[in-house]
Amino acid sequence: MQLLKINDTTRRPYIAIIGGSNFLRKAPALHLLASQCDGLFLVGKLSFQIMNGLGIPVSSCLIEKNATKEVLQLIEIAHNRNIPIYYPTDLWCLNSNNNEQLEIFDSAELLSGLISLGWTPVDIGPSTLERISSLLSSYKKILWIGPTSFDLTEEFSVGATQLGQILNKASHNSCDIILVGGAACKAVKGMSDSSSQYTASENESIVWEFLKGRILPGIAALDKSYPYQIPWDDVFSDTTQPLFVDIGSGNGLFLFQMARNWEGLNFLGLEMNEKLVVRCLQDVASAGKRNLYFLSTNATSTFRSIVSSYPGQLTLVSIQCPNPDFNKEQNRWRMVRRMLVEAVADLLQVNGKRSIYSRTWSLSCLE
Ligand SMILES: C[S@@+](CC[C@H](N)C(=O)[O-])C[C@H]1O[C@@H](n2cnc3c(N)ncnc32)[C@H](O)[C@@H]1O
Repeated sequence: MQLLKINDTTRRPYIAIIGGSNFLRKAPALHLLASQCDGLFLVGKLSFQIMNGLGIPVSSCLIEKNATKEVLQLIEIAHNRNIPIYYPTDLWCLNSNNNEQLEIFDSAELLSGLISLGWTPVDIGPSTLERISSLLSSYKKILWIGPTSFDLTEEFSVGATQLGQILNKASHNSCDIILVGGAACKAVKGMSDSSSQYTASENESIVWEFLKGRILPGIAALDKSYPYQIPWDDVFSDTTQPLFVDIGSGNGLFLFQMARNWEGLNFLGLEMNEKLVVRCLQDVASAGKRNLYFLSTNATSTFRSIVSSYPGQLTLVSIQCPNPDFNKEQNRWRMVRRMLVEAVADLLQVNGKRSIYSRTWSLSCLE
Protein backbone atom coordinates (compact mmCIF):
# COMPACT_ATOMS: atom_id res chain seq x y z
CA MET A 1 0.00 0.00 0.00
CA GLN A 2 1.23 3.46 -0.76
CA LEU A 3 1.04 4.92 2.72
CA LEU A 4 1.28 8.46 1.49
CA LYS A 5 -1.98 8.03 -0.40
CA ILE A 6 -3.56 8.65 2.98
CA ASN A 7 -1.86 12.04 3.27
CA ASP A 8 -2.61 13.01 -0.31
CA THR A 9 -5.34 15.63 -0.25
CA THR A 10 -5.63 16.27 -3.97
CA ARG A 11 -9.01 14.47 -4.02
CA ARG A 12 -11.48 16.37 -1.88
CA PRO A 13 -13.67 16.42 0.07
CA TYR A 14 -11.91 13.74 2.09
CA ILE A 15 -13.46 11.97 5.09
CA ALA A 16 -11.89 9.53 7.55
CA ILE A 17 -13.99 6.91 9.31
CA ILE A 18 -11.92 6.01 12.34
CA GLY A 19 -12.58 3.09 14.66
CA GLY A 20 -10.87 1.08 17.34
CA SER A 21 -9.64 2.17 20.73
CA ASN A 22 -6.71 3.81 22.52
CA PHE A 23 -7.14 7.51 21.86
CA LEU A 24 -4.04 8.58 23.74
CA ARG A 25 -1.63 6.42 21.77
CA LYS A 26 -3.20 7.42 18.46
CA ALA A 27 -3.59 11.11 19.31
CA PRO A 28 -0.78 12.47 17.07
CA ALA A 29 -2.15 10.50 14.13
CA LEU A 30 -5.72 11.61 14.85
CA HIS A 31 -4.58 15.21 15.03
CA LEU A 32 -2.87 14.82 11.67
CA LEU A 33 -6.02 13.37 10.10
CA ALA A 34 -8.04 16.26 11.55
CA SER A 35 -5.66 18.68 9.88
CA GLN A 36 -5.90 16.92 6.50
CA CYS A 37 -9.47 15.68 6.14
CA ASP A 38 -12.67 17.57 5.49
CA GLY A 39 -14.64 15.46 7.95
CA LEU A 40 -14.08 12.79 10.61
CA PHE A 41 -16.52 10.04 11.61
CA LEU A 42 -15.42 8.40 14.85
CA VAL A 43 -16.73 4.89 15.52
CA GLY A 44 -15.54 2.16 17.89
CA LYS A 45 -14.34 3.09 21.36
CA LEU A 46 -12.66 6.26 20.11
CA SER A 47 -16.11 7.76 19.60
CA PHE A 48 -16.80 7.67 23.36
CA GLN A 49 -13.84 9.99 23.94
CA ILE A 50 -15.12 12.43 21.37
CA MET A 51 -18.68 12.39 22.68
CA ASN A 52 -17.33 13.01 26.16
CA GLY A 53 -15.12 15.83 24.87
CA LEU A 54 -18.14 17.39 23.15
CA GLY A 55 -20.00 17.46 26.45
CA ILE A 56 -22.21 14.38 26.07
CA PRO A 57 -22.36 12.51 29.40
CA VAL A 58 -20.52 9.21 29.00
CA SER A 59 -20.17 6.61 31.73
CA SER A 60 -16.64 6.82 33.18
CA CYS A 61 -16.04 3.10 32.57
CA LEU A 62 -16.03 3.81 28.82
CA ILE A 63 -13.63 6.74 29.00
CA GLU A 64 -9.90 6.47 28.68
CA LYS A 65 -8.22 8.26 31.54
CA ASN A 66 -5.57 10.90 30.76
CA ALA A 67 -6.74 11.43 27.18
CA THR A 68 -8.84 14.57 27.83
CA LYS A 69 -6.20 17.03 26.69
CA GLU A 70 -5.62 15.17 23.40
CA VAL A 71 -9.37 14.83 22.78
CA LEU A 72 -9.88 18.56 23.27
CA GLN A 73 -6.95 19.27 20.95
CA LEU A 74 -8.59 17.19 18.24
CA ILE A 75 -11.87 19.04 18.69
CA GLU A 76 -10.00 22.35 18.53
CA ILE A 77 -8.18 21.43 15.29
CA ALA A 78 -11.49 20.45 13.70
CA HIS A 79 -13.17 23.59 15.03
CA ASN A 80 -10.40 25.86 13.71
CA ARG A 81 -10.62 24.23 10.29
CA ASN A 82 -14.40 24.28 10.40
CA ILE A 83 -14.71 20.55 9.66
CA PRO A 84 -17.35 18.29 11.22
CA ILE A 85 -16.70 15.44 13.65
CA TYR A 86 -19.43 12.82 13.56
CA TYR A 87 -20.07 10.02 16.04
CA PRO A 88 -22.60 7.18 16.35
CA THR A 89 -26.15 8.24 17.13
CA ASP A 90 -27.29 4.74 18.01
CA LEU A 91 -25.67 1.53 19.16
CA TRP A 92 -26.32 -2.18 19.21
CA CYS A 93 -26.05 -3.28 22.84
CA LEU A 94 -25.74 -6.58 24.63
CA ASN A 95 -27.31 -7.32 27.95
CA SER A 96 -24.64 -8.88 30.10
CA ASN A 97 -27.33 -10.52 32.22
CA ASN A 98 -28.61 -12.33 29.16
CA ASN A 99 -26.11 -12.97 26.36
CA GLU A 100 -28.83 -13.55 23.82
CA GLN A 101 -30.41 -10.15 24.24
CA LEU A 102 -29.33 -7.53 21.71
CA GLU A 103 -31.06 -4.18 21.43
CA ILE A 104 -30.57 -0.84 19.74
CA PHE A 105 -30.30 2.28 21.91
CA ASP A 106 -29.83 5.96 21.28
CA SER A 107 -26.14 6.66 22.05
CA ALA A 108 -26.65 9.50 24.50
CA GLU A 109 -29.33 7.61 26.41
CA LEU A 110 -27.17 4.50 26.65
CA LEU A 111 -23.86 6.09 27.54
CA SER A 112 -25.26 8.18 30.35
CA GLY A 113 -27.37 5.63 32.17
CA LEU A 114 -28.05 2.25 30.64
CA ILE A 115 -24.55 0.88 31.18
CA SER A 116 -25.31 0.56 34.87
CA LEU A 117 -28.34 -1.59 33.96
CA GLY A 118 -26.10 -4.20 32.35
CA TRP A 119 -26.14 -3.00 28.71
CA THR A 120 -22.84 -2.92 26.87
CA PRO A 121 -22.34 -1.29 23.45
CA VAL A 122 -21.12 -3.77 20.85
CA ASP A 123 -21.47 -2.08 17.46
CA ILE A 124 -22.83 0.94 15.63
CA GLY A 125 -26.57 0.94 14.99
CA PRO A 126 -28.71 1.28 11.82
CA SER A 127 -29.33 5.07 12.11
CA THR A 128 -25.58 5.62 12.35
CA LEU A 129 -25.04 3.52 9.24
CA GLU A 130 -27.77 5.42 7.40
CA ARG A 131 -26.10 8.66 8.38
CA ILE A 132 -22.72 7.46 7.13
CA SER A 133 -24.33 6.31 3.90
CA SER A 134 -25.98 9.67 3.22
CA LEU A 135 -22.83 11.62 4.17
CA LEU A 136 -20.47 9.62 1.98
CA SER A 137 -22.18 10.61 -1.24
CA SER A 138 -20.69 14.10 -0.89
CA TYR A 139 -17.09 12.88 -0.40
CA LYS A 140 -14.58 12.04 -3.13
CA LYS A 141 -12.10 10.25 -0.90
CA ILE A 142 -12.77 7.97 2.07
CA LEU A 143 -10.36 6.42 4.55
CA TRP A 144 -11.74 3.68 6.79
CA ILE A 145 -9.32 2.66 9.52
CA GLY A 146 -10.09 0.45 12.53
CA PRO A 147 -13.08 -1.63 13.63
CA THR A 148 -16.56 -0.16 14.06
CA SER A 149 -17.39 -2.51 16.90
CA PHE A 150 -16.82 -1.69 20.55
CA ASP A 151 -15.75 -4.94 22.09
CA LEU A 152 -13.13 -5.45 19.39
CA THR A 153 -14.04 -9.07 18.81
CA GLU A 154 -15.13 -10.56 15.50
CA GLU A 155 -18.40 -11.72 17.00
CA PHE A 156 -20.58 -8.68 16.34
CA SER A 157 -19.45 -7.33 13.02
CA VAL A 158 -22.85 -6.28 11.67
CA GLY A 159 -21.70 -2.68 11.49
CA ALA A 160 -18.50 -3.53 9.62
CA THR A 161 -20.34 -5.69 7.06
CA GLN A 162 -22.89 -2.98 6.38
CA LEU A 163 -20.26 -0.26 6.23
CA GLY A 164 -18.43 -2.46 3.71
CA GLN A 165 -21.56 -2.47 1.54
CA ILE A 166 -21.87 1.31 1.82
CA LEU A 167 -18.25 1.77 0.75
CA ASN A 168 -18.63 -0.68 -2.10
CA LYS A 169 -21.48 1.49 -3.38
CA ALA A 170 -19.37 4.63 -2.97
CA SER A 171 -16.55 3.04 -4.96
CA HIS A 172 -18.89 2.80 -7.95
CA ASN A 173 -19.29 6.57 -7.85
CA SER A 174 -15.58 6.98 -8.59
CA CYS A 175 -14.76 7.71 -4.97
CA ASP A 176 -11.20 6.86 -3.83
CA ILE A 177 -11.35 4.41 -0.94
CA ILE A 178 -8.58 3.43 1.42
CA LEU A 179 -9.19 0.50 3.74
CA VAL A 180 -6.94 -0.07 6.71
CA GLY A 181 -7.10 -2.93 9.21
CA GLY A 182 -8.54 -6.43 9.28
CA ALA A 183 -12.14 -5.34 9.90
CA ALA A 184 -12.26 -2.88 7.01
CA CYS A 185 -10.50 -5.18 4.54
CA LYS A 186 -12.59 -8.19 5.50
CA ALA A 187 -15.85 -6.26 5.23
CA VAL A 188 -15.17 -5.21 1.65
CA LYS A 189 -13.41 -8.38 0.50
CA GLY A 190 -15.33 -10.22 -2.15
CA MET A 191 -17.57 -7.25 -2.93
CA SER A 192 -15.11 -5.36 -5.07
CA ASP A 193 -15.12 -5.57 -8.84
CA SER A 194 -13.12 -3.93 -11.59
CA SER A 195 -14.84 -0.56 -11.14
CA SER A 196 -13.83 -0.38 -7.48
CA GLN A 197 -10.96 1.84 -6.49
CA TYR A 198 -9.67 0.36 -3.29
CA THR A 199 -6.29 0.74 -1.69
CA ALA A 200 -6.08 -1.74 1.16
CA SER A 201 -3.75 -2.63 4.00
CA GLU A 202 -4.54 -5.16 6.69
CA ASN A 203 -1.69 -3.93 8.87
CA GLU A 204 -3.35 -1.21 10.88
CA SER A 205 -0.51 -0.57 13.32
CA ILE A 206 1.96 0.26 10.55
CA VAL A 207 -0.47 2.84 9.20
CA TRP A 208 -1.02 4.39 12.65
CA GLU A 209 2.74 4.65 13.12
CA PHE A 210 3.10 6.16 9.67
CA LEU A 211 0.40 8.72 10.47
CA LYS A 212 2.41 9.70 13.52
CA GLY A 213 5.16 10.59 11.06
CA ARG A 214 7.39 7.74 12.12
CA ILE A 215 9.69 5.54 10.13
CA LEU A 216 9.09 2.26 11.87
CA PRO A 217 11.76 1.07 14.30
CA GLY A 218 11.91 -2.34 12.62
CA ILE A 219 12.73 -0.65 9.36
CA ALA A 220 15.11 1.83 10.94
CA ALA A 221 16.96 -1.04 12.58
CA LEU A 222 17.89 -2.20 9.12
CA ASP A 223 19.65 1.04 8.91
CA LYS A 224 21.58 2.45 6.08
CA SER A 225 21.27 -0.47 3.71
CA TYR A 226 17.46 -0.49 3.85
CA PRO A 227 15.93 0.79 0.63
CA TYR A 228 13.31 3.23 1.93
CA GLN A 229 10.37 3.45 -0.37
CA ILE A 230 9.39 7.05 -0.07
CA PRO A 231 6.65 7.69 -2.63
CA TRP A 232 8.22 10.96 -3.72
CA ASP A 233 5.48 11.70 -6.26
CA ASP A 234 2.96 11.86 -3.41
CA VAL A 235 5.28 13.89 -1.19
CA PHE A 236 6.23 16.64 -3.64
CA SER A 237 4.30 17.98 -6.61
CA ASP A 238 7.43 18.13 -8.78
CA THR A 239 10.14 15.60 -8.01
CA THR A 240 12.48 16.94 -10.68
CA GLN A 241 13.12 19.98 -8.46
CA PRO A 242 16.40 20.00 -6.52
CA LEU A 243 16.17 18.78 -2.92
CA PHE A 244 17.20 20.62 0.25
CA VAL A 245 17.44 18.45 3.37
CA ASP A 246 17.51 19.89 6.88
CA ILE A 247 18.73 17.32 9.41
CA GLY A 248 17.32 17.77 12.91
CA SER A 249 14.66 20.12 11.57
CA GLY A 250 13.15 20.72 15.03
CA ASN A 251 9.98 22.83 14.88
CA GLY A 252 10.38 23.18 11.10
CA LEU A 253 10.21 27.00 11.10
CA PHE A 254 13.41 27.33 9.11
CA LEU A 255 12.19 24.97 6.38
CA PHE A 256 8.75 26.59 6.26
CA GLN A 257 10.36 29.94 5.61
CA MET A 258 12.69 28.44 2.99
CA ALA A 259 9.84 26.57 1.25
CA ARG A 260 7.85 29.80 1.02
CA ASN A 261 10.78 31.73 -0.44
CA TRP A 262 12.06 29.04 -2.80
CA GLU A 263 9.15 27.44 -4.62
CA GLY A 264 11.57 25.93 -7.15
CA LEU A 265 13.21 23.67 -4.55
CA ASN A 266 11.83 20.76 -2.54
CA PHE A 267 12.47 20.74 1.22
CA LEU A 268 12.71 17.68 3.44
CA GLY A 269 13.09 17.85 7.22
CA LEU A 270 14.50 14.78 8.99
CA GLU A 271 13.76 14.95 12.68
CA MET A 272 13.83 12.24 15.32
CA ASN A 273 11.28 13.89 17.60
CA GLU A 274 8.01 12.39 16.41
CA LYS A 275 5.78 15.00 18.05
CA LEU A 276 7.56 17.81 16.24
CA VAL A 277 7.19 15.97 12.94
CA VAL A 278 3.46 15.45 13.43
CA ARG A 279 3.02 19.16 14.14
CA CYS A 280 5.06 20.06 11.06
CA LEU A 281 3.04 17.69 8.88
CA GLN A 282 -0.18 19.25 10.19
CA ASP A 283 1.13 22.68 9.22
CA VAL A 284 2.24 21.42 5.80
CA ALA A 285 -1.25 20.01 5.22
CA SER A 286 -3.07 23.14 6.33
CA ALA A 287 -0.76 25.38 4.32
CA GLY A 288 -1.22 23.09 1.30
CA LYS A 289 2.56 23.09 0.70
CA ARG A 290 3.67 20.63 -1.97
CA ASN A 291 7.39 21.39 -1.84
CA LEU A 292 7.83 20.63 1.85
CA TYR A 293 7.77 17.41 3.86
CA PHE A 294 8.98 16.01 7.18
CA LEU A 295 9.91 12.51 8.30
CA SER A 296 10.49 11.24 11.79
CA THR A 297 13.71 9.28 11.76
CA ASN A 298 17.20 9.02 13.14
CA ALA A 299 18.84 10.73 10.20
CA THR A 300 22.33 9.70 11.23
CA SER A 301 21.64 6.16 10.17
CA THR A 302 18.85 6.63 7.62
CA PHE A 303 19.88 9.68 5.62
CA ARG A 304 21.56 7.63 2.91
CA SER A 305 18.71 5.25 2.20
CA ILE A 306 16.03 7.95 2.35
CA VAL A 307 17.77 10.48 0.15
CA SER A 308 19.35 8.08 -2.33
CA SER A 309 15.95 7.21 -3.83
CA TYR A 310 15.06 10.86 -4.52
CA PRO A 311 14.56 11.20 -8.30
CA GLY A 312 16.07 14.70 -8.58
CA GLN A 313 19.36 16.10 -7.32
CA LEU A 314 20.33 16.69 -3.73
CA THR A 315 21.52 20.24 -3.79
CA LEU A 316 21.73 21.41 -0.18
CA VAL A 317 22.01 19.83 3.25
CA SER A 318 21.84 21.78 6.47
CA ILE A 319 22.38 20.76 10.08
CA GLN A 320 21.65 23.59 12.46
CA CYS A 321 22.40 23.46 16.14
CA PRO A 322 22.49 19.66 16.11
CA ASN A 323 22.77 19.24 19.86
CA PRO A 324 21.63 21.85 22.35
CA ASP A 325 24.07 20.51 24.91
CA PHE A 326 26.93 20.25 22.50
CA ASN A 327 29.50 21.25 25.08
CA LYS A 328 29.00 17.97 26.87
CA GLU A 329 31.59 15.54 25.62
CA GLN A 330 29.20 12.56 25.50
CA ASN A 331 26.82 14.41 23.17
CA ARG A 332 29.33 15.86 20.83
CA TRP A 333 29.00 13.40 17.99
CA ARG A 334 25.50 12.18 18.67
CA MET A 335 24.07 13.24 15.34
CA VAL A 336 26.96 14.21 13.11
CA ARG A 337 28.74 10.91 12.86
CA ARG A 338 30.99 9.54 10.17
CA MET A 339 28.23 7.55 8.46
CA LEU A 340 26.14 10.68 8.06
CA VAL A 341 29.00 12.81 6.82
CA GLU A 342 29.94 10.14 4.28
CA ALA A 343 26.35 9.76 3.09
CA VAL A 344 25.98 13.52 2.63
CA ALA A 345 29.28 13.69 0.76
CA ASP A 346 28.32 10.78 -1.50
CA LEU A 347 24.84 11.97 -2.36
CA LEU A 348 25.28 15.67 -2.69
CA GLN A 349 25.46 16.84 -6.29
CA VAL A 350 28.75 18.24 -7.50
CA ASN A 351 29.00 21.83 -6.26
CA GLY A 352 26.17 21.15 -3.82
CA LYS A 353 26.32 22.93 -0.47
CA ARG A 354 26.53 21.48 2.97
CA SER A 355 26.29 23.69 6.00
CA ILE A 356 26.39 23.06 9.69
CA TYR A 357 25.69 25.71 12.27
CA SER A 358 25.86 25.51 15.99
CA ARG A 359 25.32 28.28 18.49
CA THR A 360 28.40 27.11 20.30
CA TRP A 361 30.44 25.89 17.43
CA SER A 362 30.86 26.30 13.72
CA LEU A 363 32.11 23.69 11.33
CA SER A 364 33.62 24.14 7.96
CA CYS A 365 35.29 20.79 7.51
CA LEU A 366 32.54 19.50 5.21
CA GLU A 367 32.93 22.23 2.66
C1 LIG B 1 18.85 21.92 19.04
S1 LIG B 1 17.61 21.28 18.02
C2 LIG B 1 17.80 22.35 16.60
C3 LIG B 1 16.56 22.37 15.77
C4 LIG B 1 16.67 23.24 14.52
N1 LIG B 1 17.65 22.72 13.59
C5 LIG B 1 17.00 24.68 14.90
O1 LIG B 1 18.09 25.12 14.61
O2 LIG B 1 16.14 25.32 15.51
C6 LIG B 1 18.31 19.75 17.44
C7 LIG B 1 17.25 18.88 16.80
O3 LIG B 1 17.91 17.78 16.21
C8 LIG B 1 17.12 16.62 16.43
N2 LIG B 1 18.03 15.47 16.29
C9 LIG B 1 19.09 15.13 17.08
N3 LIG B 1 19.69 14.03 16.60
C10 LIG B 1 19.00 13.66 15.48
C11 LIG B 1 19.14 12.61 14.54
N4 LIG B 1 20.11 11.69 14.67
N5 LIG B 1 18.25 12.52 13.52
C12 LIG B 1 17.26 13.43 13.39
N6 LIG B 1 17.07 14.45 14.25
C13 LIG B 1 17.94 14.57 15.28
C14 LIG B 1 16.60 16.82 17.82
O4 LIG B 1 15.44 16.04 18.07
C15 LIG B 1 16.30 18.31 17.81
O5 LIG B 1 14.97 18.58 17.40
